[in-house]
Amino acid sequence: MARNPLAAGLESDEVAEPLVIFIFGVTGDLTRKKLIPALFSLFVNGRLSEIRIVGFARRDWSDEYFREQAAEMIEGIAASDEERRRFISSLRYLSSTFEDAAGYQRIPEFCNGFVNRLYYLSTPPGAYPAVIENLGEAGLAAENGGYTRIIVEKPFGRDLTSARELNRTLLSYFDEQQIYRIDHYLGKETVQNMMMLRFGNGIFEPIWNSRYIDHVQITVAENAGVGTRGNYYERSGALRDMIQNHAFQLLAVTAMEPPNDTRPESIRGEKLKVIRALDDVTLRAPDENIVRAHYIAGVVDGEPVEGYLDEEGVDPLSRTETYVALRVELDTWRWAGVPFLLRTGKRLSRKITEIAIHFKLPPLRHFGAGPHGAANNVLAIRIQPDEAISLTMNAKIPGYATAARPVNMDFTYGTSFGKAVPEAYERLLFDAMKGDNTLYTRRDEIEASWEFISRILDFWSTSDRPLASYEAGSAGPPEAQGLLGSADRRWRKL
Ligand code: BG6
Repeated sequence: MARNPLAAGLESDEVAEPLVIFIFGVTGDLTRKKLIPALFSLFVNGRLSEIRIVGFARRDWSDEYFREQAAEMIEGIAASDEERRRFISSLRYLSSTFEDAAGYQRIPEFCNGFVNRLYYLSTPPGAYPAVIENLGEAGLAAENGGYTRIIVEKPFGRDLTSARELNRTLLSYFDEQQIYRIDHYLGKETVQNMMMLRFGNGIFEPIWNSRYIDHVQITVAENAGVGTRGNYYERSGALRDMIQNHAFQLLAVTAMEPPNDTRPESIRGEKLKVIRALDDVTLRAPDENIVRAHYIAGVVDGEPVEGYLDEEGVDPLSRTETYVALRVELDTWRWAGVPFLLRTGKRLSRKITEIAIHFKLPPLRHFGAGPHGAANNVLAIRIQPDEAISLTMNAKIPGYATAARPVNMDFTYGTSFGKAVPEAYERLLFDAMKGDNTLYTRRDEIEASWEFISRILDFWSTSDRPLASYEAGSAGPPEAQGLLGSADRRWRKL
């Protein structure tokens, strides 16, 4: 069969050692939407030599019922009947509350024959300490002829104090090297490509600094509302749900210094420095640098939708933000004075995640200003929905007059590689099985980001300034314009 030349270099024959994975809180949404589909894709792609998947949760399910549920979860993934059958037969169910030590005593019997163990913590966050302590007290954090690792889902704490507490609990039983704090944005292909783009090419790094860059915009927009998660979201809000983790990770990979090598500790060390360099300027004048808002009724994708305060599980007097935009600066030699503008929100006009580097104008404006003058060059790295990188530059409009129009130079993954990129969870689970924690968050990194975020939360808790609002389906509150700091700057269109 003729080989697809675009696929060259994409094949890999890496295979994980046999393992048993325990999913705590297996009856939840994450298992259905992400974990089981990701494990099945790894299985179908030949990445797993042998696996047993044990669901651990409160509900009174049986092996059979778990298997039936899982069969539905993998329906949409292309595979043979034989592959489905083999995968499904590897599933087992252990019914226990998270607090009951007796449930954990049964874990060894489910490990029969497997020395490598992965625990996946995907319970409601309030149950994390119980699961960790029970595993530890039962001696199940120990490594015995194989590895024992624990993956911890977000939210990792809800402020600095609780994040530190959770770290302390984890570290009383597990070593840092056994702990994998997940941020699924790091598993997204374009986020990883950011490092390739910056450090694998000679042309970008020399201009990646305050001399050439005017400002950076990081957007994580969603058109979905809070759906059935009103209860969780009420206690969280956009700052905790998206900025502390996902947006800060995007900021870190954009702004970090070149690591000395590609070892996990080198990369994680450089990312940490970015978070620690977040300047106080944002916090000195929070009202001028942060906008928080919630959506009111509007129209999304042609459908009328209700406002946040009318969603199920939401307090009608809620002050939880569904949108936040902030202007931060980094106190580093490379970035001093460059604004980084971060925004995220639910019920915006569309789902898009991107990092946009806005370059400065040339020193002389030979081609004028205004609609036909030269505009700033923008390098946009799009992470979702379609992974792409595009560079906007000025081209002369053909004809007798000298007028400029911005044109794009595009690279899209689909056309260049002819292959869909793997789901973030697939990549991250596989990394944890191989013992590669590069794309997981280290203790100090998480605490540094909470330190900054907690200061904003503290300020909000004492501020009586009303939240701004935006219509569902719009680009966000008009107040966000004020963060840009100059009439020449505009937020990118969603
Ligand atoms: C999660 C948040 O971490 O990320 C959700 O809790 C959000 O509120 C989701 O919808 C977005 O992830 P993705 O991969 O769809 O961009």
